[in-house]
This record gives sequence, structure tokens and C-alpha cells, in this order.
Amino acid sequence: MMLKLVVRRTTEIADDIRELVLARSDGGPLLAHPPGSHVVVECGTRRNAYSLTSSGIEPYEYTIAVLRLPGGNGGSEQMHRFRAGDRVAVSSPRSDFPPVSTAARHLLIAGGIGVTPMLSHARDAVHWGRDVRLLYGHQAGKGAYVEELARLLGGRMQRASGSEEFAGLLREALVSQPIGTHLYVCGPASLMDRVIEEATAVGWPPQRVHLERFTPAELDPGQPFTARLRRSGRSVTVPAGTSLLDALEQAGVPVANMCRQGVCGECQVPVFAGRPLHRDEFLTQDERAAGDSVMCCVSRSETEHLEVDL
Ligand code: FES
Repeated sequence: MMLKLVVRRTTEIADDIRELVLARSDGGPLLAHPPGSHVVVECGTRRNAYSLTSSGIEPYEYTIAVLRLPGGNGGSEQMHRFRAGDRVAVSSPRSDFPPVSTAARHLLIAGGIGVTPMLSHARDAVHWGRDVRLLYGHQAGKGAYVEELARLLGGRMQRASGSEEFAGLLREALVSQPIGTHLYVCGPASLMDRVIEEATAVGWPPQRVHLERFTPAELDPGQPFTARLRRSGRSVTVPAGTSLLDALEQAGVPVANMCRQGVCGECQVPVFAGRPLHRDEFLTQDERAAGDSVMCCVSRSETEHLEVDL
């Protein structure tokens, strides 16, 4: 369900990064959420996911920060046009990047605008006295929330504004953590891939590495396949270049959806037979391996047929 919220304030917090503070028009409380949660916001004809920066404890406001992406899908330009008093449709918070309660330490690694969920994590960790470290890579002069993070974390934050400096600090951070540390990564795809590659190379188990991608991966058109709908007994052909969600909608089969980018989790459909080709950012590694559900807005099928609960 989409909430109708009001833009309370907008602030340019760094070059091309605008913070929006959203609240109920009557000033009432909003749903609490775990650190690292995101909301999906209607921006023009698009719906984009944005991380909430607050810790999520008894919120009266939801705060997000949006990087302007000229030439992107247009959503960020629209977000930068919002002014105080405008009404915005916003989903309830979704959590798929929470802190692991049993972690001995939380090592946060952020690049650019990927710092937004880390601010939420940092606030929560400081509030509850949990061990936390942050490595924040950003272009010189373009860091967001730098002063606030420095206040929260002091010497537990390291910043790097060049790729060599970042690489050095990353290497050191990945090999110097106590046993039981969990790693959280958010930022541009290239930075995330690099962190994952290096973490894997020095032996981090995937169960202790948690990712939040804020831009969907570039997707290829994929192979055609057939969706078999168990409840109705129908079959729907999904051509290359058409998503399973689009094919279902074109066949008159409605499926709940929101972001259509594989990030919000709304379009998850149980799978009974066949092997999904997961291309979303929502399912965990264990859920992917189980193969018993598919995010039909972006994911496809490895097998010729995929039988789903529709
Ligand atoms: S609609 Fe959001 S993950 Fe599919």
C-alpha cells in the first residue's frame, strides 16, 4: 500500500544530492523500521527505491537522500523538483539490509550515495552500543552526511576520496576485523563488485557479506521460456526482452508490484517446478539457492518451463 506523505523540507546536502524529509500531513507517527530499510517512492511515471537514513525507532519523519542522475530514468530529476508542501506517494518501509544481531562487529563500506543506509546503521549501532566501523569512499568534496558521521563515529570512520586510497583502506579493513564481523556494502555497482571480489579473495564467507544495491543491474534480454500457472492451468510465453511480469500482465494475470526493478520485493511469486534465473536485488543467497520463489519483474527461468503459484 502506498502512503500519501508530505514533503516537510528539502536540503541540498552535497553536490547533486538532495535530502527530502517526508511526514504525515497530520504530523502523526510513522511505522518503525529496522536500520537499512528502504521505501519505494513514486517519482513521475517511475517508482524508485531509496534508503531511509534514520535508525527507524519511533519515527515521525522518513528522510531520504537522492543523487541527481542526469540521463537516468528521470526519477531522480523529479525527486529533485519536489518542494516543501508537495505530496508524495511512498510505500511502507521494506527491510532487506538489517544489521545481524549476533555480529561481533559491523563493518560498513559505502561508496557515494551508498552512504545513506550506512547512516541508518551507524545511528542504530551507536544508539545500542554495538561495535561498528565505516569506510566511506566518495569524490573529493562530494561526501554526504560527513559531519554527522564524524560526530557519531569519530575515529571509527575512515574516508577515502581517491580510488588508490580507497583500495588501500579496503584491503586493510578486510583483513583486520575480529572473528564474527559482518560486512555491509552499498554503493555503485563497480565499487560493490570490487569489495565482494576482495572480500571473497581473503576468505569472507558469503553469509557474512550483506549487499544493498541502489541501482538495478543492467539486464540482458534473456532467453524465452514458458510460465505455467498452476492455479489456472494456463501457460504464458515469455519472449526474450519481455519480463515475466510484463508477459503475465499482457495475458491478463495481475501480479502485485511496485518498483519493477527487483528491489522492493512486492512481486515475489512462489515457484513449484523449474529453476528460476534470479536477477533481483531482493532475495538473499539462501533464498536464491532454495529456488522456490521468483521476483517476476526482473528474474527469468533457467529451464524451459517455470511453474508458478498463479
Ligand atoms: S516489483 Fe519490486 S521487486 Fe519486483
